[in-house]
Amino acid sequence: MSEEREALTSAGILAEKIRTRGARVGVVGLGYVGLPLAVEFAKAGFSVTGIDLSQEKVRRVNAGDSYVGDVPSAVLAPLVESEKLRATTDFSAVAELDTINICVPTPLRKTKDPDMSYIVSACQEIAGHFHAGMLIILESTTYPGTTDELVLPMLAKSGLEVGRDFFLCFSPERVDPGNPKFQTVNIPKVVGGSTPACTRMGQLFYSQALEHVVPVSSTQVAEMVKLLENTFRMINIGLVNEMALMCDRMGIDVWEVIDAAATKPFGFMPFYPGPGLGGHCIPIDPFYLSWKTKQAGIEARFIELAGYINGQMPHFVADKVQNALNDAGKPVKGSRIHVMGVAYKRDIDDMRESPALDVMLLLKQRGAVLSYSDPHVASIRVDGLNFESSPDESAAEADCVVIVTDHSAFDYQALVRNSRLVVDTRNALKGFDSNKIVRL
Ligand SMILES: NC(=O)c1ccc[n+]([C@@H]2O[C@H](COP(=O)([O-])OP(=O)(O)OC[C@H]3O[C@@H](n4cnc5c(N)ncnc54)[C@H](O)[C@@H]3O)[C@@H](O)[C@H]2O)c1
Repeated sequence: MSEEREALTSAGILAEKIRTRGARVGVVGLGYVGLPLAVEFAKAGFSVTGIDLSQEKVRRVNAGDSYVGDVPSAVLAPLVESEKLRATTDFSAVAELDTINICVPTPLRKTKDPDMSYIVSACQEIAGHFHAGMLIILESTTYPGTTDELVLPMLAKSGLEVGRDFFLCFSPERVDPGNPKFQTVNIPKVVGGSTPACTRMGQLFYSQALEHVVPVSSTQVAEMVKLLENTFRMINIGLVNEMALMCDRMGIDVWEVIDAAATKPFGFMPFYPGPGLGGHCIPIDPFYLSWKTKQAGIEARFIELAGYINGQMPHFVADKVQNALNDAGKPVKGSRIHVMGVAYKRDIDDMRESPALDVMLLLKQRGAVLSYSDPHVASIRVDGLNFESSPDESAAEADCVVIVTDHSAFDYQALVRNSRLVVDTRNALKGFDSNKIVRL
């Protein structure tokens, strides 16, 4: 096709708008994934509209007041003031947009089946205002096949043709909240389209705002990439958790074993045991894969096994605490136990699937009297009871302290000095030598 004729096609027009930063960018779902992405595109000079069902989030974005740890308000506010970024609850804004990234939640149902309702509802709203020349990219983690089997038919109902009149991609989100080194802008972005033209459009789009873009041949490959990455982590954590259980039985320090093994310069990558899996991704995503492969007649046995072992860790921690108290001559029933850190990982405020909730529930069921400290989490609910974070110093009053999340704000010197007994599930007290410390 000649350059002039290409310029007149939907692809040509959209590509030109993207290259000149004239494309109007939309992000549906302004959470941990969507807000940082919206900010990157606004920083790159695009006019960005975020759409979210939460009036509170929309209000805060429009006030330049960030609720996502990785997005400082000092970065958000000038983008809002200069009208590069705005938020709305109204999907009619789609009519004015050229691109949309969908970043809505994809939880699992109790039965471990994927809950696609958020994606379906977002796509139905988009379809109501869909028009030719749009690029739609799904970023929510999901099972392989979602983009082409679920999203594409909803958009194709418009009568528009994918790869010619509009463009559809999947691009896995890899954000690692709280990671100071890798953020949305410098994490390589994998993208795969429903057609080669879609992939090219997705690649062109991301390369305007992000440092590295990795095109792949299809939406299914892009979907599977995310599941491989998270399954890899989940299984390796399951393996190292099982190592911890074995080392405990044999009286070997698993942390020392891992550190020594990690000196091997090839063929080994350290993973660390802990109180159990947490967060919105690692405990959940591999089950999208096992759900899908079951339909193809393949049991995902590694996933099920690692899920089982990881699920045992809160019980192992509760047993450790109980045994440590017994050794100190105190029954767990009636003992005061203070948990340090309840977020699912270090230096963030996210409580989703946090193993601290399981550990606290188990200890409560055994009759312990609980309290906790977490500089990032003001209050939590365990088994119908509300708890408020207390000052770190209150650990000194407890019969046993359990380090569940190793926030860097904690003063570990003071903790060891002032506590009677400390169970450390994260090796936060590496290098400390005290007979008050019981390690995982
Ligand atoms: N948080 C992470 O670290 C992370 C990392 C990689 C991938 N992911 C994946 O990214 C996706 C989003 O995760 P998140 O952590 O940003 O979730 P989140 O809950 O922080 O944000 C999702 C947002 O979507 C909004 N929303 C829900 N339904 C909507 C709808 N129909 N229309 C408009 N907005 C809607 C919610 O109000 C919320 O603000 C999930 O699939 C998740 O698995 C998350």
